[in-house]
Amino acid sequence: MSDIVAANRDRLLQAAVEAKAFAYAPYSKFRVGAALLTEDGEIIKGANIENASYGGTICAERTAFVKAASEGKRKFAALAVTTDVASPIAPCGMCRQVIREFCSLDMPILLAASSYMEKKDGVKELTLEELLPYSFGPEDLDRDRAPPA
Ligand code: THU
Repeated sequence: MSDIVAANRDRLLQAAVEAKAFAYAPYSKFRVGAALLTEDGEIIKGANIENASYGGTICAERTAFVKAASEGKRKFAALAVTTDVASPIAPCGMCRQVIREFCSLDMPILLAASSYMEKKDGVKELTLEELLPYSFGPEDLDRDRAPPA
């Protein structure tokens, strides 16, 4: 783990728990909190925001990335995610692809159990590559390719 992640690990996990308090999840009642650590030590929080159309729902992770990226913050050192489930819950497929857009394959993703604040434990740590192997990313669009027929 890089120095910046080690130094901010608890702060980041705590921010994900705080973010979860603002989840708008009247339909699923499944609250999710996410927190992104920028390379310069800033933390950006996100919660899931549901919609009566269901399809308009935005996951906590994507809320955090869109908040950050739309303010020019696009270099990240780690992501933390938590829910009300007793075991760590992993980001959905669409969120994994959004993470892939902005983060390196070795970036740590910390998945915290609901009891994190009480126990300071129950964190599963994965890299983006472990969550999304054989991925497609921005650099693939720069590859040489045959012209269309
Ligand atoms: N959800 C997230 O916020 N992140 C994920 O990675 C998985 C799912 C939200 C979307 C929806 O509001 C609720 O959890 C149930 O799917």
